Amino acid sequence: MISLQTAKLIAGTETPAGDGVTGALRCVVVLPDGTRRAAILKRGSVGEVAAEAFPGLVLRAWGLPVPEPLFIDEAAGPAFASSDVGYPNLKKRLMLDSLPDGPAKDAATRIAMQLAIQLPTTPLAAVVDEAIDNRDRNLGNILWDGQAEAWIDHALTLGEHPIGYPDRNKLCDMAQMVGEHDRICRSAVGQALAVGQAPLVSASDAMPINLRNNNYASYVASRLSNLASRLLDRFPKPADLLTNANQ
Ligand SMILES: Nc1ncnc2c1ncn2[C@@H]1O[C@H](COP(=O)(O)OP(=O)(O)OP(=O)(O)O)[C@@H](O)[C@H]1O
Ligand SMILES: [Mg+2]
Repeated sequence: MISLQTAKLIAGTETPAGDGVTGALRCVVVLPDGTRRAAILKRGSVGEVAAEAFPGLVLRAWGLPVPEPLFIDEAAGPAFASSDVGYPNLKKRLMLDSLPDGPAKDAATRIAMQLAIQLPTTPLAAVVDEAIDNRDRNLGNILWDGQAEAWIDHALTLGEHPIGYPDRNKLCDMAQMVGEHDRICRSAVGQALAVGQAPLVSASDAMPINLRNNNYASYVASRLSNLASRLLDRFPKPADLLTNANQ
């Protein structure tokens, strides 16, 4: 059964968690059974909070390792929290932000992309990102402890991106940049067939009333109907190569 736990923030436990662009906060929350849990709190519009919560539920049901999503009902409005897995994102893991621009940073970024593309669940992540219209799967949104990975930050999904935000599947782009597009494309197209509609309605039913501002289930369902061809379109096509060869 899919469910979204409602947690309470312990006031005063918040410290900055991310790059500070959107103000993600590391904090401690209390679950309905009274246990405490470290989490990353993200405040935003109802749409932004729903765009984190709904994919959090659906992606876990589809088998992607996503930290347990939590709903926080604050006086100022609904908020989202992601259970803290306790390990950093790939950008921090390779200390990319501490390197000055130049060849060393470019090389480290390439290594981070290679790591991202070789994770066991990367093809599935590319599939689900296509399904939920995730435009922002950058290296800061992939957590890695040296063995396990976790996929976070679904704020820019389900149409919640700013107007004009580029329509990209960043994992497919990374796969091309590191020369792994054939493997990722084949694997993703195969896995696209295994991503079914079943969790969509259950996840909608699990959403708190004040987050049901859009029909997210039908938004994703319409993308599932042609998911494999959507994914194929993210990669260079053999026909393109033939065209060039014949010119
Ligand atoms: N569940 C989690 N477990 C561990 N770390 C997390 C988790 N969720 C988020 N973080 C950390 O917090 C950072 C910010 O979270 P997130 O990417 O969701 O928000 P953001 O909108 O990109 O925030 P900012 O703009 O402040 O970086 C992540 O890059 C990651 O380092
Ligand atoms: Mg992020």
